[in-house]
Amino acid sequence: MVIAKLLGVLLLLEMISGLRFGADGLSMGYYIMSCPFAEPIVRNTVTRALQADPTLAAGLLRMHFHDCFIEGCDGSVLLDSTEGNTAEKDSPANLSLRGFEVIDDAKKQLEQQCPGVVSCADILSMAARDAVFWAGGPVYDIPNGRKDGKRSKIEDTINLPAPTLNASELIKMFGQHGFTAQEMVALSGAHTLGVARCSSFKNRLSDTVDPNLDSDFAKQLTKTCKAGDNAEQPFDSTRNIFDNAYYNGLQRKTGVLTSDQTLFASASTRGIVYGYAFNQAMFFLDFQQAMVKMSKLDPKEGSKGEVRGNCRKIN
Ligand code: HEM
Ligand SMILES: *[C@@H]1O[C@H](CO)[C@@H](O)[C@H](O)[C@H]1NC(C)=O
Ligand SMILES: *[C@@H]1O[C@H](CO)[C@@H](O)[C@H](O)[C@H]1NC(C)=O
Repeated sequence: MVIAKLLGVLLLLEMISGLRFGADGLSMGYYIMSCPFAEPIVRNTVTRALQADPTLAAGLLRMHFHDCFIEGCDGSVLLDSTEGNTAEKDSPANLSLRGFEVIDDAKKQLEQQCPGVVSCADILSMAARDAVFWAGGPVYDIPNGRKDGKRSKIEDTINLPAPTLNASELIKMFGQHGFTAQEMVALSGAHTLGVARCSSFKNRLSDTVDPNLDSDFAKQLTKTCKAGDNAEQPFDSTRNIFDNAYYNGLQRKTGVLTSDQTLFASASTRGIVYGYAFNQAMFFLDFQQAMVKMSKLDPKEGSKGEVRGNCRKIN
């Protein structure tokens, strides 16, 4: 009872302080009236899933990124292929996307509590946020009110950055979505969680010596690849912990992807890497701000979206 009252006061406070609608139609406290337990339901679902499998934090975070970079955050990455349409998730660029069951689980509970209210795109952005926090990263609030899109096409995944890109190509690509170079470097810090497969970095293991790759680490990558294209290499020394070890690794030339190490190799972004390696609090602050910005990337379909009943299928 006391807890319920306390929660009520908290919700009210959040409502008064946070009910601001942006031009994009998203707002803080969006579900406060229509589905007050939306945020705790997602958080509990994510917590339970991550307790069983901590590596899923990386999966949820990456899935949100892929969702937002293709036609805005509209849950399109969650759609299954149908007869006659191959969905985004079945592109080779989907490589190893994980965590779909966590979203399905949260959706099922939310449909019981408040049917037709909470979009899959919102569930995914909340889940990514909660995963970052669970793994030891910053806690932050994101606006909600996204609608689920109806388009998910394999050919759209060309808009995802390739692991072979260099710093200027990355700056350009993220710039097209409105991000600064600093925000791009901060977002790349998501690679503090998770793994890459050999197929994503074997381009670096040719006979010519890569001056941006530590020679011992090159041996490690080669060893990983002996087990095949799907063999996994953690991005940093703490694969399930959200910290700044990724940037420390870049300074030692132990970045896994070309697109990781280029952030230190290139003079245009090296200073930012030094900054984040030196000051984790600064990384956390920049990361959370860039994540909020990413979570607001607008679907082209805009208000034409829907709230799916099942995240894998359009209604
Ligand atoms: C800067 C451009 C980026 C490139 C080129 C890139 C590329 C990749 C590649 C190739 C993988 C490994 C896939 C595999 O081999 O299985 C990966 C994994 C991952 N990416 Fe990125 N990524 C980028 C930015 C981001 C951003 C902005 C985020 C999130 C905010 C993100 C989150 C992740 C996570 C968490 C993983 C690990 C997934 C897991 O362990 O299941 N990446 N990325
Ligand atoms: C990703 O795409 C591949 C085909 O390129 C497919 O075999 C795989 O099932 C897809 N992964 C997911 C999680 O849908
Ligand atoms: C980055 O790649 C582009 C396109 O391949 C190339 O033109 C450019 O010279 C590269 N930049 C650096 C610093 O290597």
